[in-house]
Amino acid sequence: MSNRTLAIIKPDAVEKNVIGEIIAKITQAGFKVLGVKLTKITPAIAGSFYEVHKERGFYGELIAYMTSGPIVPIALERENAVEEFRKLIGATDPAKAEEGTIRKLYGAGIEANAIHGSDSDENAANEIAFFFAKSELVNINS
Ligand code: RTP
Ligand code: MG
Repeated sequence: MSNRTLAIIKPDAVEKNVIGEIIAKITQAGFKVLGVKLTKITPAIAGSFYEVHKERGFYGELIAYMTSGPIVPIALERENAVEEFRKLIGATDPAKAEEGTIRKLYGAGIEANAIHGSDSDENAANEIAFFFAKSELVNINS
């Protein structure tokens, strides 16, 4: 079990000006921030990040949405990080997410759902490396 995950505050939540509120929820849930940046990605970069979804009907829209404004990738550490973080953000569709979850609180719809969370330990490691050089991450174990 790995103890890291990658979050991305998505364009809709950055636009709503709730970066600080969302990071507060994350740290209050016991996650430590290892790395954080505000960035805007190109369609090529978004396409590469979401390569696994390229056969899905919403892929083109997803790329357009994720490149529509700045995003905030955040590398996080906590025991059982992937699973605990997905509980904290709630279901993909904010309308179906549990009360108190980040998507329920801040998501606008199934696509503009405020936040991303890695879905496996392997993907978490790859996604953190996708957005952060090792020198940009706090190394809590050293
Ligand atoms: P994420 O990867 O962002 O944490 O979300 P997830 O695991 O809950 O959902 P996933 O199936 O991986 O989908 C990735 C993102 O694509 C957008 N989406 N749009 N229009 C649609 O039906 C639809 N379905 C998914 C969402 O932004 C979703 O988070
Ligand atoms: Mg996913």
